[in-house]
Amino acid sequence: MALAVAAALLVFTVWAREPAIAAIERPDPARFDRRQVASGAALARIGNCASCHTVSGGRVYAGGTPIRTPFGTIHGSNITPDPETGIGTWSYEAFARSMREGVGRDGSHLYPAFPYDRLRHTGEADLRALYAFLMTRDAVRAEPPANTLVPPLGWRPVLAGWKLLALPRRAPQAPQPQLGKLWERGRYLGEGLAHCGSCHSPRGILQQELRDRAYAGGWSDGWYAPPLDATSPAVRAWTTQRLYAYFRTGLSTAHAAAAGPMGPVTHNLARTPGGDVRALAAYYAWTMRDAPAARAEPALPDRAALAARRHPAGAALFRGACAACHEPGAAMMAAGRPDLRLGSPLHEDNPRDTVQIILQGLEPPVEPNGPYMPGYADTLTDAQIAAITAYMRARWGSGPDWGDIEQAVADARDGSSK
Ligand code: HEC
Ligand code: HEC
Ligand code: HEC
Repeated sequence: MALAVAAALLVFTVWAREPAIAAIERPDPARFDRRQVASGAALARIGNCASCHTVSGGRVYAGGTPIRTPFGTIHGSNITPDPETGIGTWSYEAFARSMREGVGRDGSHLYPAFPYDRLRHTGEADLRALYAFLMTRDAVRAEPPANTLVPPLGWRPVLAGWKLLALPRRAPQAPQPQLGKLWERGRYLGEGLAHCGSCHSPRGILQQELRDRAYAGGWSDGWYAPPLDATSPAVRAWTTQRLYAYFRTGLSTAHAAAAGPMGPVTHNLARTPGGDVRALAAYYAWTMRDAPAARAEPALPDRAALAARRHPAGAALFRGACAACHEPGAAMMAAGRPDLRLGSPLHEDNPRDTVQIILQGLEPPVEPNGPYMPGYADTLTDAQIAAITAYMRARWGSGPDWGDIEQAVADARDGSSK
């Protein structure tokens, strides 16, 4: 028996092995074409590479960023051209293989916390530009901390099994030439490099993205990334123009501000060539074309008296802590900040985003003088946040009452997904 297991393990390990690609001398940064490097910089913003490869306050792309998964914490690698701790010895072929197959230069399998299931749809010229951009950054010597994963996931060969079972084979969305060039550019970027579906799609038990339910809503770092399909909970249509403004400024005056993990996405898109942002806007307006708000925008009630009767404690807390900014007529709203009724959080099928924004507040996502809200994690208890949330849902939200909100606050505090 033990022998059979050992033999099976041996066969598996041999099957799972990928060859190493020879190390090279770090290429001379002066050899890369300047325009190619500039194009790589723009693509790196669309791919949010810095979000997962930079620790807050640390050197850009030097890695060490903790990424929490249900199986433990994985750290973003150092992708500066440092020869020992970064990718300085990686040839273009090694880099392209990592982006397409999730295999490191030495042949080891990489965790899908690195979204190569999406990045792999990036074309050759764009991968070359990304490589030129990364290889011309400052080399930073920095070793990321060790991952803490439940056994046996620390053993990388098991990832070959994961790829076999869970790496989606189906192309994310076939091209449709009749929909035009802008749509096609949006499809290419959104379904690949920008990996919008990594956060906005549900995942299966192996944490694989469920491609047949793409954009039906997913989880990211303890936040809920709402649907971007016909089930979008938005109460105002996400048109191309509104999406464009949201991506460029971090704020849609017909919806709300970009909070949580969506903040850095808009921060980067604000610094991306406008044509690519317009293409993404056109494409996602299309994925949400059958959403309720795209057909008719409902009148939005303000059930103030009813909500206060049902949730007196929540109403009192709201008056004390939130009304100065959020009561209809408040100065902030006169200055063009949206009404709480318009944002999707109060219309979602779970309270997570409402709770997270109360806990963490909002840093201006794009420009320092953008929308700001203080966080209440240290000043309000779980029960108080649950009371305010229930009150706001009853006053401005749609859909049935949310279930155990206090539990949702506890889950949000420890960053779990769901
Ligand atoms: C959602 C988070 C995330 C994003 C976005 C992301 N990465 Fe990563 N990346 C990771 C993680 C985590 C690893 C480490 C995987 C491992 O250790 O198995 C990694 C590994 C890599 C590696 C392999 C490095 C090595 O030493 O093995 C390269 C190259 C890389 N990323 C490049 C990129 C580029 C280029 C982008 C932007 C287009 C990008 N990544 C975007 C999370 C991310
Ligand atoms: C790292 C995870 C992540 C990525 C990547 C991401 N999003 Fe988001 N997105 C979120 C979260 C979380 C929210 C909800 C935040 C909030 O309530 O402000 C959100 C909100 C949104 C909204 C607002 C929806 C609504 O009805 O309020 C839109 C539109 C959106 N994202 C589009 C995109 C597009 C397009 C991309 C790719 C270019 C993208 N997102 C990439 C996590 C992500
Ligand atoms: C200093 C002003 C200020 C205070 C005080 C404040 N907020 Fe906010 N809040 C904002 C701004 C600015 C935004 C971003 C604009 C937007 O999304 O509507 C925001 C956004 C929100 C959102 C998300 C809007 C959406 O639909 O996505 C919720 C929910 C929210 N606030 C709830 C609260 C609650 C509850 C309190 C009190 C505990 C509170 N806020 C206190 C300024 C404030």
